[in-house]
Amino acid sequence: MWYCSYMDNIQTIARDIVAVGKGLLAADESEKTANKRLTSNGIVPSEEMRKQYREVFFLTRDIEKYLSGVIFFEETLGQSTSDGVPFPKLLSEKGIIPGIKVDQGTKPFDDSPDELVTGGLIGLSERLVPFYERGARFTKWRAVIRIDGDTLPTSHAILENAKRLASYAHDAQVAGLVPILEPEVLLEGNHSMLRAKEVLTETLSTVFTAVDDSPVDRTALIVKTSMALSGSESGKTDTPEEVAEQTLDALMASVPPNVPGIVFLSGGQSPDQATDNLRAIARLAKEKNAPWPLTFSYARAIQSEALATWQGKKENIPEAQKVFISRLQRVSEASMGN
Ligand code: 13P
Repeated sequence: MWYCSYMDNIQTIARDIVAVGKGLLAADESEKTANKRLTSNGIVPSEEMRKQYREVFFLTRDIEKYLSGVIFFEETLGQSTSDGVPFPKLLSEKGIIPGIKVDQGTKPFDDSPDELVTGGLIGLSERLVPFYERGARFTKWRAVIRIDGDTLPTSHAILENAKRLASYAHDAQVAGLVPILEPEVLLEGNHSMLRAKEVLTETLSTVFTAVDDSPVDRTALIVKTSMALSGSESGKTDTPEEVAEQTLDALMASVPPNVPGIVFLSGGQSPDQATDNLRAIARLAKEKNAPWPLTFSYARAIQSEALATWQGKKENIPEAQKVFISRLQRVSEASMGN
């Protein structure tokens, strides 16, 4: 059994996650999603190739300058490098905090079957114990909110997902793990940016009402959110300044100031868009004296270029790692408004 150096309390860990200039690598795609990413880059998926995919990122030199933590999927938390070093050990020895996605995916909501609710609460407390023992110090739960005109989302689906997020957050805190609450408002759709902002505001406000109605400690959790963006089928590309203004309006209206930090998902934005939008948000947040640190928790926007370079081939690893660290550096700079 190796020793995990993170014995701090959950408030401290939450603050460490959003340390200046650092953010999270969301390496927590489910096996199915990871296979999809590999296949679309011409790689035949298998457990071994999913492991090698993670290894390209985890073995990149200097990632600890830009990453405070990595979110694992359960399979990856149990995997090791080709030299036999468990992934969580490898990362925590570099000062990177291991985390784990603990929800069990979405299913249609009985009361509104075109919407989704996230499962995984039954038996959650028991499932968290071995995650802690294997080195995880924070967790993630993703809810999915879909926009369709003025009809979706329904308040009912938002509320159900919010209650589940609060319940999960309590279980995680009791287990000594920082909860990341991620109600992802999907980019897919033809909605306007203002509609996205409205849904983001309602969703996050409902999540914090549910948090306040439960014994969850707001000072020991992280919010993971989408940016306010026009839908991917709207035909509109928003400027970073527009994104920053609408996103910060939504966050200021809904996230309490004593929350230790907010991280963004990339949600299908290109790597450049996700970098430019983060930079604009960080700049405006400074101007407006936003009360929380803001940074990235990206999967696609920081991994896709390196994956396309790697193509599953050993000889491409050095170039893929170069591409990865270069994107990480730019995203880290962007999180500081640079
Ligand atoms: P993307 O950055 O690819 O949206 O993934 C982040 C994430 O964790 C989604 O749940």
